[in-house]
Amino acid sequence: MNFNGKAAISTGAASGMGLLFAQNFADLGGNIVMCDVNEEVLTEKVFDINQKGRGKAVGVVCDVRDYAQVCAARDKTVEAFGRIDIMANFAGGTAVRMQKVNRMLCPEFPDVPIGVYDWGIDVNLKGPFYFAHAVLRQMRLQNSGLIINIGSISGAEGDGYGIEYSTSKAGLMYGLTKSIAQFGSKYGIRCVCISPGPVLTRADMAKMKTLLGRAAEPQEIIDLCLFVASEKGRFINGENIMIDGGRNAAGRNC
Ligand SMILES: NC(=O)c1ccc[n+]([C@@H]2O[C@H](COP(=O)([O-])OP(=O)(O)OC[C@H]3O[C@@H](n4cnc5c(N)ncnc54)[C@H](O)[C@@H]3O)[C@@H](O)[C@H]2O)c1
Repeated sequence: MNFNGKAAISTGAASGMGLLFAQNFADLGGNIVMCDVNEEVLTEKVFDINQKGRGKAVGVVCDVRDYAQVCAARDKTVEAFGRIDIMANFAGGTAVRMQKVNRMLCPEFPDVPIGVYDWGIDVNLKGPFYFAHAVLRQMRLQNSGLIINIGSISGAEGDGYGIEYSTSKAGLMYGLTKSIAQFGSKYGIRCVCISPGPVLTRADMAKMKTLLGRAAEPQEIIDLCLFVASEKGRFINGENIMIDGGRNAAGRNC
């Protein structure tokens, strides 16, 4: 597998799977635009990739909730590399965790300030929607491209507290991914959603059950993303792929 001459955008690229995708893609010869709101860490990670001397990395401070910043990231990618082959939407997470909501003070869904959930819907759903709208213009010109959305087991099984998260991820896994495939296929553009169960980007994910009795290593998720993005994955389109150790097959009681 190699991505020589290809260009990708990864969001949430300062940490976790967005970063790992960027590192792997560059290791395999691809050029990568890394988007995140965390400028300090992003700058350091971009530097590290460029030090390796394989694919080139460019960092763009971009809040996926802001359409103007999303368009600027698209334009920067075309300016730097002349094309966009892969758009990978990793930025996301449950708003109650990422916005550090105190569960003692806000024990149930109606107790959490609505602004917290606004943030979650904007990052998890609107961000990938904005990026799709922005990059499809370029991909249509090229007559090629791939958009990878990152869903979650929560999108399939629901979550009575992080309701905006499961709602947003379900939107990516089914509505957005199928719809982009329907629009894009006539232009040679594919869209695929990859939906993990628990992933060890955080140690506490080890507590979440799966049929295989463990959480995924981040690399296991990225290997699937790279397969979908490679020539070998070229017939996968409009589909949500669960990668969850069988949790979806068994439900929460596995
Ligand atoms: N870790 C898991 O167990 C798991 C399971 C299923 C799905 N996922 C999904 O996988 C994706 C990556 O998860 P992770 O655990 O690697 O994430 P992470 O928490 O390690 O990284 C998220 C990154 O997104 C960035 N970010 C936050 N808000 C942003 C914004 N508005 N604009 C741009 N960047 C922003 C953060 O700065 C951070 O670098 C997420 O979409 C998550 O929902 C994760």
